[in-house]
Amino acid sequence: MNEKISALKKEFPALGARFGGKRLVYLDSACTVLKLSCAAEAQRRHLLGLGGCGGKRSFHALASAMEEEFYAARARVAAFMGAESPEEIIFTAGVTDAANLLANSFPFTPARNEVVLSPLEHNAVFLPFERLAAAGRIKLKVAPLKGLKPDMEALGRLIGRRTALVCFTHASNIFGGREDVARAADLAHKAGAFLFSDDAQYAPTHGGGAALYGADACAFSGHKLGAPYCTGALYVKRALLGRLRPWRVGGGTVEDVSVSGGRYTVKYLGNYQGFEAGVQNYSGLAGLAAALARFEKCGYDNIRAHVSGLVEDAMKALAEVKGIKVLGRREDLLEGSLISLAPEKKGFSVPDFNLFLNHQLKGRFIAVRTGRHCADLACLASGYRETIRLSFFAYNTPADTACFVDALKKYLSLLK
Ligand SMILES: Cc1ncc(COP(=O)(O)O)c(C=O)c1O
Repeated sequence: MNEKISALKKEFPALGARFGGKRLVYLDSACTVLKLSCAAEAQRRHLLGLGGCGGKRSFHALASAMEEEFYAARARVAAFMGAESPEEIIFTAGVTDAANLLANSFPFTPARNEVVLSPLEHNAVFLPFERLAAAGRIKLKVAPLKGLKPDMEALGRLIGRRTALVCFTHASNIFGGREDVARAADLAHKAGAFLFSDDAQYAPTHGGGAALYGADACAFSGHKLGAPYCTGALYVKRALLGRLRPWRVGGGTVEDVSVSGGRYTVKYLGNYQGFEAGVQNYSGLAGLAAALARFEKCGYDNIRAHVSGLVEDAMKALAEVKGIKVLGRREDLLEGSLISLAPEKKGFSVPDFNLFLNHQLKGRFIAVRTGRHCADLACLASGYRETIRLSFFAYNTPADTACFVDALKKYLSLLK
């Protein structure tokens, strides 16, 4: 393990905690990354040392100090996401919040009201658009899968002159790997449509996101980067941002309200300000900024290389296990941070195996994710109704994988 990675590994206190007297083997970072000490400390310091009014509402020294930190966090997130300006960053509670915001504020017109989705979209992205489609406001099209990846030719054929938006997850949370956002953005742009990328699984190990690959909008979740829950951001390119209609409205979003003949006219603030209604998660965002600074210091290249090494190591070990199948191709999986397994041996019960990992191992338990992973589109398209997902981050070691493989072999040996 490289020195920078081993120094970083020491900064996740939950790794050393015991639960019911048992040691944690954590292979569920795709769900959430354990939290970084510096992020928690920054949040605490902000809450107790500032804790005042934010969002340009009050004008006193405490409010100015709050605003300064808030803007510094925005600038750091903008740099992380590859935005041209901090004004293109809307803080959100994560990707779910970002996708709901985008779906409900997007400027669909009768002539352009189609949304094309990759088959790998998480429910966080799929469902907000599915709701609009169910209400008859848009038409939804889903591209097919090809070898557990989006069929890019078919995606291209679905995009046309009525397409307003293409949603394309950058890294799948069920099949791993990494997808060609630049190509998807190109297909969307050629048809005059916009491209949104879900960077939830991409950002933590690659650093940054799809803005650098031509996406018009993209989002990530802070809790998947060791930062406080309910932090994250939606980047929207200036040209699109100016066309979005604020959706969650309220305090802090309005430039002016006028009334004439009993009717109110509301003028919303431009850029991010029209979209951040009400009090924001200022302290959480201080934590997010601290987490981003820490990973930057470690270097995303180091994180990436370490995680890719763990995936490779796990694939080698799993290749020798009979009774399960690793989903996906080696060269694809090495680009991502997770591996999904499908049971093949008769009698294998995924819920029972999960119980086994949690209750039947001596002195430790193994946290993995089993089920559909909120990736219902991918499950429907692939026919895999449940998988066992191992996901890695900078703090994992080959010993974690060895622990899992050992447990898997033991469980398989119990089946007749
Ligand atoms: C690919 C992907 N998109 C979106 C989400 C939703 O993220 P959040 O729950 O942080 O809003 C997740 C969460 O696991 C995810 O993996």
